[in-house]
Amino acid sequence: MGLRSIIVLVVLVGVRGSSTSEAASTDISAQSKIKSETAEDTGQKSTLPVEVTEDNMMATGELNPNHYPAQRAAKVVQHYFNTRYGSPYRLFGLQQVHSGNAEDVSNSGRRYQLEISVHEIISNKTQKCSAEVFFPRGEGSLFAEVQASPCEELLINTKLQEEALYQQYKNNQSLLSAQNLPDSYGHIEPNMEPFWHLAIVASSFIMLKESTENTLYNMAQVASIKQLDTENDQLKFECNVLLHEMVSQEILQWKLLFTWSSAEGINVLEKEQLPHCHSCEKAPNSK
Ligand SMILES: *[C@@H]1O[C@H](CO)[C@@H](O)[C@H](O)[C@H]1NC(C)=O
Ligand SMILES: *[C@@H]1O[C@H](CO)[C@@H](O)[C@H](O)[C@H]1NC(C)=O
Repeated sequence: MGLRSIIVLVVLVGVRGSSTSEAASTDISAQSKIKSETAEDTGQKSTLPVEVTEDNMMATGELNPNHYPAQRAAKVVQHYFNTRYGSPYRLFGLQQVHSGNAEDVSNSGRRYQLEISVHEIISNKTQKCSAEVFFPRGEGSLFAEVQASPCEELLINTKLQEEALYQQYKNNQSLLSAQNLPDSYGHIEPNMEPFWHLAIVASSFIMLKESTENTLYNMAQVASIKQLDTENDQLKFECNVLLHEMVSQEILQWKLLFTWSSAEGINVLEKEQLPHCHSCEKAPNSK
């Protein structure tokens, strides 16, 4: 079964709910895909947009909160929260879009005003927040600009856990190295979970920058993560990630170099999109 059809299956499962997941579970690839999508999407599969082609025209005015335009803009807010507040113990998902409004701003771009529920996945807390996403229009590399209410209830203090993790891996003789998070069975070793979260947060920096009005990015899998030696007091990681762009149904492979410490958080040093690899048509779940 090709990756494309697996993804279609996942979307179908998401839309139709549990009735089709029995069928899907005969395919372990599909299962692990569901796990990874679910991990990112906080299990709210039913909020996935159904219409794929309905809105090639840019919707303006009040938006259907379950349709793509509102969902795409809201997803950008999720990536924004991860880049601002994410950590190995703090990870944000979009739970629900309550309302959305889009307007053209003279000739400069389009602004979305959103009421959304953001989910902090590790503490399992949810809060309703307002956010504004502006997609600039014009030449050059333009990035979505996000403003959001702080959502303080989700900003759980995780300093102690972060410090413990930092000390453990800073002082360890051997460097961390892992592949396929999650694996073919949708499983992640508990001691690797913080690094799965860390890689999602680091990938959010890519997804935030790459997002436009016409994209919907999700983390699919960490193909590999490797801790590198450092001279300073940061932990340094090289990471290959697979991102799922749900509108084009493409799996994109990116390489990331980033540092993390409990004191300074994540700092992305390099990111590079890798060419489409045909072995990825079988990966991520065929091993
Ligand atoms: C998360 O919280 C919701 C609502 O409070 C609850 O229904 C759900 O069971 C919780 N999930 C976990 C994994 O604890
Ligand atoms: C050191 O790292 C190795 C490999 O990542 C791991 O198996 C081991 O548990 C770590 N030791 C400590 C004390 O964390």
